[in-house]
Amino acid sequence: MVIILLGPPGVGKGTQGALLVEAFGWERIATGDLLRSARRDGSELGSKAQSYMDAGNLVPDELIVALVRDHLQKLASDQGVIFDGFPRTLAQAEALDGVLADVGRKVDAVVLLEAPADVLVKRLSGRWSCPQCQEVYNIHFDPPVTEGICDECGARLTQRKDDLPDTVRHRLGVYRDQTRPLVEHYEEASAPVIRIEGDRKLEHVSRAIRRSLVKQLGVGA
Ligand code: AP5
Repeated sequence: MVIILLGPPGVGKGTQGALLVEAFGWERIATGDLLRSARRDGSELGSKAQSYMDAGNLVPDELIVALVRDHLQKLASDQGVIFDGFPRTLAQAEALDGVLADVGRKVDAVVLLEAPADVLVKRLSGRWSCPQCQEVYNIHFDPPVTEGICDECGARLTQRKDDLPDTVRHRLGVYRDQTRPLVEHYEEASAPVIRIEGDRKLEHVSRAIRRSLVKQLGVGA
């Protein structure tokens, strides 16, 4: 299976992607996480990506496509994959189609998560994460037991620079202009687009995604 999780910032792609990995044993390729890890490592890619990410803009396509190609090449040809945060532009979608075709694969489905902008701004301004073990919290919906401290490893939690409200609103505009049009690309390419209402409790969203995948693709949980 090759599944794309598509949706605006804060809609729950990372959260739901992690749950799908647990349920189905797929590999999750999350370009935002890979870029943040490159920044932590101080790599050339990380330093090239930094200013784009902090401003809420997209990192240039050629850097992202090379990153994804590199990760895909390390996987077995029958390994299920979930893309989270990729593709985000038509050029990235076309590059992915080409990379998959080279190994006889294609996109099996797109899961489109959607929620109103005010919900997304609230979620992202409440998101805190652990710089050590990467656990994610939300002060509104899923706070740590001790304020500001990771339940898992005890490190002090931090907030992403691009989660400040003005930057979140800019990211939403970038999504609307550059990424949302990919829905039409996949509809034209005959990949099923599974629409999921993301403004519900986390477990309800998760159940809806799994049910749709089972029903439409025959995926076994
Ligand atoms: P990236 O890290 O991909 O950010 P994003 O797509 O903007 O997604 P987020 O991580 O903000 O949100 P999410 O949908 O994963 O939500 P989450 O589950 O975390 O990208 C960051 C930057 O990297 C980009 O701006 C760009 O610069 C660069 N980049 C990355 N990929 C790129 C690409 N392909 N091309 C070019 N540039 C690229 O949830 C958010 C919060 O809400 C959490 O606190 C969570 O606990 C909470 N939450 C989740 N679900 C629920 C729920 N149902 N109810 C209540 N709270 C919930």
